[in-house]
Amino acid sequence: MSEAELLELHGDEWSLVIERLPKGGFAWRHLGERLEPGSLPAARDLIGATTFSIDEPQPLPVFPLHGSGWFGPSILSLLAKDARALDPEFTSFEAVSSGDCIELRFGDDREKLSCSLRFSKLASGLTIETAIRNEGRDQVVVSSLASAFLPVFANANRIISWRGRHAAEFEECVENLPAHGWHRTTHGGLTGHGGPPACQILAGECGWHSGLAFSAQLAWSGDSRLAIEKHDEGMWLLTAEASISNGEVRLEPGESYHSPTLLVAISGAGRNGVAAQQHSMVRAIAEYPAGEMRPRPVHLNSWEACYFAHDEARIKALASAAAVIGVERFVLDDGWFKGRDNDRAGLGDWKPDPRKYPAGLAPIAEHVRSLGMEFGLWVEPEMVNPDSDLYRAHPDWALTTRGTPGPTARSQLVLDMRQPAVRDYLFEELDTLLSSAPISYLKWDHNRAHAPSGGSAQVRGTYALLARIREAHPDVEIESCAAGGGRIDAGIVRHVHRFWTSDNIDAIARIPMQRGFLAFFPSEMMGAHIGASPSHATGRSQSLGFRAAVACQGHFGIELDPAELDPSERDDLDQWVSFYKRWRGLAHGGQTLLGEGPNGLTWQAQGNGREYILWIMRTDVSHQRRDAQLPLPFAAGQDWQVRLLDLVGGDHVLAARSGKAIDAMRETPLTFSGSWLARAGLPLPALNAEGVAIFHLEAA
Ligand code: GLA
Repeated sequence: MSEAELLELHGDEWSLVIERLPKGGFAWRHLGERLEPGSLPAARDLIGATTFSIDEPQPLPVFPLHGSGWFGPSILSLLAKDARALDPEFTSFEAVSSGDCIELRFGDDREKLSCSLRFSKLASGLTIETAIRNEGRDQVVVSSLASAFLPVFANANRIISWRGRHAAEFEECVENLPAHGWHRTTHGGLTGHGGPPACQILAGECGWHSGLAFSAQLAWSGDSRLAIEKHDEGMWLLTAEASISNGEVRLEPGESYHSPTLLVAISGAGRNGVAAQQHSMVRAIAEYPAGEMRPRPVHLNSWEACYFAHDEARIKALASAAAVIGVERFVLDDGWFKGRDNDRAGLGDWKPDPRKYPAGLAPIAEHVRSLGMEFGLWVEPEMVNPDSDLYRAHPDWALTTRGTPGPTARSQLVLDMRQPAVRDYLFEELDTLLSSAPISYLKWDHNRAHAPSGGSAQVRGTYALLARIREAHPDVEIESCAAGGGRIDAGIVRHVHRFWTSDNIDAIARIPMQRGFLAFFPSEMMGAHIGASPSHATGRSQSLGFRAAVACQGHFGIELDPAELDPSERDDLDQWVSFYKRWRGLAHGGQTLLGEGPNGLTWQAQGNGREYILWIMRTDVSHQRRDAQLPLPFAAGQDWQVRLLDLVGGDHVLAARSGKAIDAMRETPLTFSGSWLARAGLPLPALNAEGVAIFHLEAA
């Protein structure tokens, strides 16, 4: 019996243990909660022969390929130039390991290919990426290269994933782990409204705060495929890959293909534990101007205030109304450029419309800045309307199938971002625009799926354009929008600073969406606005307080004309702007913990371990007269001073009244022990439908 030669990588909460096999190659030994492996017998000595299997023991490969006695999914699929299937057989193996990274290298001397698999610690999580390089003399076609192939714990029982559509993003789906296979694939050419290519996998009784949880998200903004398959040995196997179109990745001698990064989190602290690791990795990837996230400014976005109907006078008036209530960044949305009176014309011609903005955008931008706000602008660079000067000059710049442009959607076509000339044109247009006026923010939209698809090179083309803009204008922040939340992923996060979560800003609809967003992205990147009532997306009406309390949980903004509110509502809005400014330092940049209470309550705490802002929400009518105390598991371990900051939506005629002691908590905090709050629970005010109780907790 021989001892295993192990390679190890450890996070605070997780460990990865790989065995270097004596005959070459590497096998999985552990991917799960943190442990010290000590000395272990070699994997092949732990596996005996069984019927109907390869005679040699087959430990679970880290880089599985068909043709080698492995009957599960293959991480790589290749074709030779003559369309012959090319199954590499690795003959050389190398492991390079440092404290924060393990890189495994595989070489095939006969086919002249080399591959690598890299595991790295990033903040509190784990990143994985793969690459292939053609070392030979002939072209090689890469049909697929997964970013990772991972074993998932055998006691896992649920997969949480998200799906969605325009204006209904992040619908949470809970499924049992499959007896055969589970797939999440996207085909629209971009991330899609179901959120990032991602899932959580939960073991045993895992919930929000405790239990073993795994999560993975692929840092990719195009088509993708996640697969979970049941292995004969009992565990599940996860593969995650960016889809490659047929024949699109052809490696000439000396060329490489790199997969996008998979961000993996493993925690014994439940869904909040893995979300915290995902947040830490996303924050490590994001690049803020000057290397630091400034307090997230209050936005006013013009879209739902005036849609396409604006000109210089209208926008100046809107900006003035915004400044009065304390807005810090004014964003001029769609409708400002040439010929753009509706959504049927103009995309591609990124010049101010001379009828609406005769002196260009500088007067608007300067007006906004003179009011003490930043000026931001909406663009949709990857698109073109057939009714545009750009399309008339360059019809061949749109994605086409056999020379014929694909079907229009929202009357627009997708530009072919693979073409350097297209990217150069867009860079010049955006660069000129950004140099023409003090514009410090772009809302970068993308309002349709691709048909035909530009494949993965389309996505890389967009990334290249974004990188070039960021390099030329490093102080400009960018918001990723795709008809709301159609492009929220960790691939684009390297280039952007905010996501527009959804075109649906109905606060009831937003609560579950925001929870889906927060499974992978931190609150400071979650664009969340107060819209008009009734909501433009759903027609439902909600109080200003309820809309505001839900929007304050993210990167807050306003999407209405404050001048159209009656004076008392405008005063309320003004106060919510101040409320957000007072608490954003606590709500952003730290932990976000989600939970559920009995009787339909959901809650969210944002803070830093010593101080939290806590939102307790009820969307529907309670069937109990009062709520029971709400246990807050995160509070264990120290005493807390608890203050009631606000109670919104609770003043209906038939509402139950809160107890005196709870009312008094508005003025004077009550001190509770951590064990009381964690196990017995926080006493609650009477909370009506569409109500939010907002507390402040500070370590006593
Ligand atoms: C998309 C965005 C909206 C708005 C419009 C403008 O739908 O999600 O916020 O910018 O485009 O056309």
